[in-house]
Amino acid sequence: MALPSSRKVTKVVIPVAGMGTRFLPATKALPKELLPVVSKPIIHHIIEEAVKAGLETVVLVTSRPKVVIEDYFDPGDLTSYRLAESHKEKLIEEVLYLSSKIDIVSIRQYKPMGLGHAILRAKPIVEGQPFAVILGDDIMKCSGPSAIHQCLNVFQERGEGSVVGAVQVEREATRLYGVIDPAPSIEDIKKGSWRLKDFVEKPDPAEAPSEWALPGRYVFEPEILEELQNAGPGKNGEIQLTDSMQKLQARKPFWACALEGERFDTGDRLGYIMANVAYALEEESTHHALRTWLSRQLAR
Ligand code: UTP
Repeated sequence: MALPSSRKVTKVVIPVAGMGTRFLPATKALPKELLPVVSKPIIHHIIEEAVKAGLETVVLVTSRPKVVIEDYFDPGDLTSYRLAESHKEKLIEEVLYLSSKIDIVSIRQYKPMGLGHAILRAKPIVEGQPFAVILGDDIMKCSGPSAIHQCLNVFQERGEGSVVGAVQVEREATRLYGVIDPAPSIEDIKKGSWRLKDFVEKPDPAEAPSEWALPGRYVFEPEILEELQNAGPGKNGEIQLTDSMQKLQARKPFWACALEGERFDTGDRLGYIMANVAYALEEESTHHALRTWLSRQLAR
């Protein structure tokens, strides 16, 4: 069945203009999005997720130190003759594949004024159409459909409103994330999505309305841009995305999509290390040796 054109989503906004202070000193000179998780940079894993969902255009919201992220996807930058000499073409095949599957455009955020502000910068490119958002430092490892694909499916099924991806976390960890209200019932979880009443940013774990956190996957109706446009500074003086989502939620439905997959906050040191271990344990060339080494380390 053909989708109504007003629900067709082709663009994904990926904000990468943050300062990356949790990864200092490395981020003094290198965007955290280019740190490798085993064989591919974090941003490669994220754009791969968008390609798997059939999205056609990535809108990178960048800043001055982040221009090298665009270079990473530029096929013209590759010194292919040397690679051919040393039989290393395979190492770049996947980058060339991604570049051929999706268009990457970029727009600058001149000052890191918050996630909401970063998404508003994409307005000239996504205005008037629904669009997806994936945060540039959160990897979702899924064996089935990619995380943003799961959100897009709920967006189509529900026919009205916006969608946020949700993952269950330990209660103690709710203080680190945006958390959704209400907690789902068993039926909601079985169905895979439920209607939201509210979002709470980084709550005290004792007061968190649920243990379902936002891992940075969204599909928005175009009205979110109106709310962001009218938003003033929120927590830390930044334009917070959750404030505008709360406003929009008062007039349009919001759905949570229970994501199937494992989430890694690769903007955080521990999350980054865990992602490397999880992917390396699956990769043929590293799986066996890493398992042996890990079990020796743990037995010490
Ligand atoms: P984070 O909260 O992880 O902030 O942003 P950060 O600056 O990247 O990292 P820390 O906390 O200083 O270590 C979540 C996502 O939103 C983007 C970031 O690039 C990241 O992908 N972001 C955040 C922007 O693009 N602009 C902003 O003003 C803030």
